[in-house]
Amino acid sequence: MRIGILGAGSIGSTLARKLAAAGHEVKVANSRGPETIEADLLASGATAVEASTVVQDVEVLITSIPLSVMPALEPLIANLPADAIVIDTSNYYPARDGQVQALEEGQVESLWIVEQIGRPVAKAWNAILSGTLEIKGTPAGDPVRLAIPVAADTDTARETAMALVEDTGFDAVDAGSLADSWRQQPGAPAYCTELTLQHLPAALAAAEKDLLPERRDKAMAIISKRAEAGESLNFDDLVAINRATYT
Ligand SMILES: NC(=O)c1ccc[n+]([C@@H]2O[C@H](COP(=O)([O-])OP(=O)(O)OC[C@H]3O[C@@H](n4cnc5c(N)ncnc54)[C@H](OP(=O)(O)O)[C@@H]3O)[C@@H](O)[C@H]2O)c1
Repeated sequence: MRIGILGAGSIGSTLARKLAAAGHEVKVANSRGPETIEADLLASGATAVEASTVVQDVEVLITSIPLSVMPALEPLIANLPADAIVIDTSNYYPARDGQVQALEEGQVESLWIVEQIGRPVAKAWNAILSGTLEIKGTPAGDPVRLAIPVAADTDTARETAMALVEDTGFDAVDAGSLADSWRQQPGAPAYCTELTLQHLPAALAAAEKDLLPERRDKAMAIISKRAEAGESLNFDDLVAINRATYT
């Protein structure tokens, strides 16, 4: 597929590498310009472009930028082909993104994104740590293959996002509609806890919406405290903290 990726950070650069390696035609943009995109990312076959052109002539646009930037994207998205599918990876962390009143009041994050950019999205790759995404993908059929939830409101968006998730080395799990996608937000049992196809559906079903912000902030507090104490946390440590805090 022809894929544009907006954001070349931890998640966007990994997606660019993996999707280009899987045979897709990938172009990627950040906020500072194509000359600042890492050479090793481009070695995968992806092309670096300006943000203004990353939306042009693509079948899929993946947005992998801080949630706080989403409200500024509407003019860019206006140049996206009408039938292109948008897949968003973002999560809301008020300490990082600033407080968003609607999200504080419980609006589902992906529905807020839809309002900001004026286009439907599929929600995918938001519930996997960048380190997990980078190194723990395995071929289809591997019994310990990890799974990623995908939420969307149309069959086309869901099927496309699920197929691309599979191309990045993970089983895709249909997590339902965008209205249900709070089940894969920070603080939920399915969020960045490295579950397989066997266990992810039950984790999605076990989520309790009212508990998410408190559990999200608790995990962040644990991470900050351990980092301040001089501990160097790796991705396995983060997954262990999430598993202990989100269930
Ligand atoms: N890190 C994780 O483990 C993880 C896991 C799942 C989901 N997520 C979510 O995925 C999103 C991206 O996370 P990340 O960790 O990859 O972030 P990151 O490493 O901070 O990278 C953010 C990227 O967005 C780009 N960007 C920012 N503003 C932009 C703009 N106006 N136009 C174009 N590009 C812009 C940045 O470009 P410049 O550097 O040029 O500014 C950078 O390439 C976030 O919403 C995050 O919550 C992260």
